[in-house]
Amino acid sequence: MYMPGGLEGLDRSGLRVAQPGRTFVRVENLSKSYGSFQALKSISFSIDVGEGLALLGPSGCGKTTILRCIAGLEPPDTGLIEIDGRTVFDSTRGIDLAPEKRDLGIVFQSYAIWPHMTVGENVGLPLKVRQVAKAELGARVEEALDLVGLGGWQPRSAMALSGGQQQRVALARAIVHHPRLVLFDEPMSNLDTQLREDMRMDLRRLQERVGFTSVYVTHDHGEAFALAQRVLVMNRGSVEMTGAPDEIYFQPRTPFVAKFFGYNIVAGIMAAPDAVDFAPGLRCPVARSGLAPGTPVHVCIRKEDVDLSESDGLPCEIITQIFQGSHDEMLLRCGDVFDLRAHWQPRRYTTKSCRITVPPERCIVIPASS
Ligand SMILES: Nc1ncnc2c1ncn2[C@@H]1O[C@H](COP(=O)(O)OP(=O)(O)OP(=O)(O)O)[C@@H](O)[C@H]1O
Ligand SMILES: [Mg+2]
Repeated sequence: MYMPGGLEGLDRSGLRVAQPGRTFVRVENLSKSYGSFQALKSISFSIDVGEGLALLGPSGCGKTTILRCIAGLEPPDTGLIEIDGRTVFDSTRGIDLAPEKRDLGIVFQSYAIWPHMTVGENVGLPLKVRQVAKAELGARVEEALDLVGLGGWQPRSAMALSGGQQQRVALARAIVHHPRLVLFDEPMSNLDTQLREDMRMDLRRLQERVGFTSVYVTHDHGEAFALAQRVLVMNRGSVEMTGAPDEIYFQPRTPFVAKFFGYNIVAGIMAAPDAVDFAPGLRCPVARSGLAPGTPVHVCIRKEDVDLSESDGLPCEIITQIFQGSHDEMLLRCGDVFDLRAHWQPRRYTTKSCRITVPPERCIVIPASS
């Protein structure tokens, strides 16, 4: 049975249990520049034993650079990286361990499968590098292939694998040497939507059964929420916010995070502790905020929370309606002042004018200065 580092991190049913408080990866003040461009600006975070951390953010924000620094494929300029209590990089002490000495598995976006080899030879590479005996190597390759649903595929040529099968082979290769830390860099971005959803579920189950600590890089928040207990949102080389998936999704602390999750962001001024004026006559009730009247704010509103109202609420005009299957994507113009997007039940809205409300407790109010 697969047990990275023994029974640690697994409960008796084999399900993964994060061990809060026991740090497995520690990253401190990591900085990296390419010429005059600062790709990472003093990044710090830690990951507990058995925990999955997702690095989430738009293209170019530095996700892959962090992963490559942890893997030892990119030397940071400054900072400290510890894995399982061992310093693998420390700029002040001149420590920089080679990638193969860091005991981790990596799945890249490109999979990096060798087409001239068999499936078994591809998966067995990390064991070969570690000079594992042939008999044991075969058994462990089979065990890893079993875990990703490709039991019995060892002798097949890697030439004729589909994208999804290559992805599974890459996954088996990343865990075959029983690493306690597995790094994923957008491993599903080459798969079609249906396959991504299937793989997401399979990978989640694999994590639960095997119990490795993981860092999962993605710009897809659904994937991050499915595969990580904690999410770190990045913006231009800095950490914007860290938290549990539901925390960062429902309580974004900055307009950047809110925008990344598809919230509407509307500028306004506190009119009272529990109301914001978007414009003269356009007042929006919000939960009591503790902000003084007159404070400029951003109000973040989820598309799902914009409700059509029969009588009261903000006056709007329906600009566009797009059928999306589970909902209609609506573009509304509020009081001729700002636009709002909303998700409504699919049906034909015959009137052009309407009124909308948003539950006050669902309006996230962020001071404009933050
Ligand atoms: N070798 C390099 N030389 C110069 N600039 C680089 C190099 N590698 C990365 N960068 C720059 O550093 C920034 C961060 O790159 P990184 O690959 O970490 O982004 P990312 O968040 O993974 O983006 P994506 O989602 O597109 O993969 C980018 O602006 C990129 O252009
Ligand atoms: Mg990247």
